[in-house]
Amino acid sequence: MQTGMFTETAVKTTGSAMPVMESFATSADQGVSEEFLRQGYIIRDVDRPDVLEALRHRVVEMACEYLGVDLPQDDGEFLNSIHANLAIQKVNAFRVALYNLLNGQSWFRPSYFWLGKSALETLVGNELAMQSRVNLSIQMPNDESSVLDVHSDTFDAETPFQVVEWLPLVDVYDTKSMFILPPPANQAAFLNVKPLLEQGGPARVFHEVKDQLVWLRVPYGKVLIFTPNLLHGNIVNRVPETRWSFNARFKGLFTPYGGPAKSLGGYYLPITTKAVSRVGMAYRAPEGFNA
Ligand SMILES: [Fe+2]
Repeated sequence: MQTGMFTETAVKTTGSAMPVMESFATSADQGVSEEFLRQGYIIRDVDRPDVLEALRHRVVEMACEYLGVDLPQDDGEFLNSIHANLAIQKVNAFRVALYNLLNGQSWFRPSYFWLGKSALETLVGNELAMQSRVNLSIQMPNDESSVLDVHSDTFDAETPFQVVEWLPLVDVYDTKSMFILPPPANQAAFLNVKPLLEQGGPARVFHEVKDQLVWLRVPYGKVLIFTPNLLHGNIVNRVPETRWSFNARFKGLFTPYGGPAKSLGGYYLPITTKAVSRVGMAYRAPEGFNA
């Protein structure tokens, strides 16, 4: 029997040969969700490679202008070897300048969203709030100052109802990348994480979990989406290339928010509010019909 575009979803043929749906999601979406639940992350091709290429080129243009150097032949090679053009002591001022320049561009956040849009919509929803600024990391080889110790974002009053879209501008792997603790190991680590932090700080926690960490290999052209509820972080980059990556948080517009500093309207902004939600939020009951 012909089931058209729904062939791969759970279509069942009833006794009277009428197709019915056995699932609310496509098998592809179910697969993405199961992978995310099992690993705590997914890595996928960006939805718009052309947008990624343009974004990366704008970053290179801004970097060249800041450094007073000519545009390179190869954007990836230029970013990977930025440590040849800039001292480690100057990298944070450089990073902050690029961060402010990029976040001042009206196209920056929408472009960033479109790179991970399909996976975000599958995992989080299609009515989203996005962090109001996209963060930039530049991690030069052997830079001890740009280490992000092992942590869960929930320890800092972040809502657990969020994902991080993490996007490298160069191939990342090993210590040039970030690590994450898979869900079963994380569950076990959480039982003891508070006393470990109190006794020996993040270094003690890292020592405890280091054999179970997954070091994420994310080639340029792909996007990583992970739950920052899991323990994650990075160590000193010992790969002789500089890591460039962006990260920004996404959550369902109507899911719970974290502490006061992480509220909607400041830290998060709505990006894809649907018409019916707008209608509902604008609705005022006539006199006599108020609850
Ligand atoms: Fe984090």
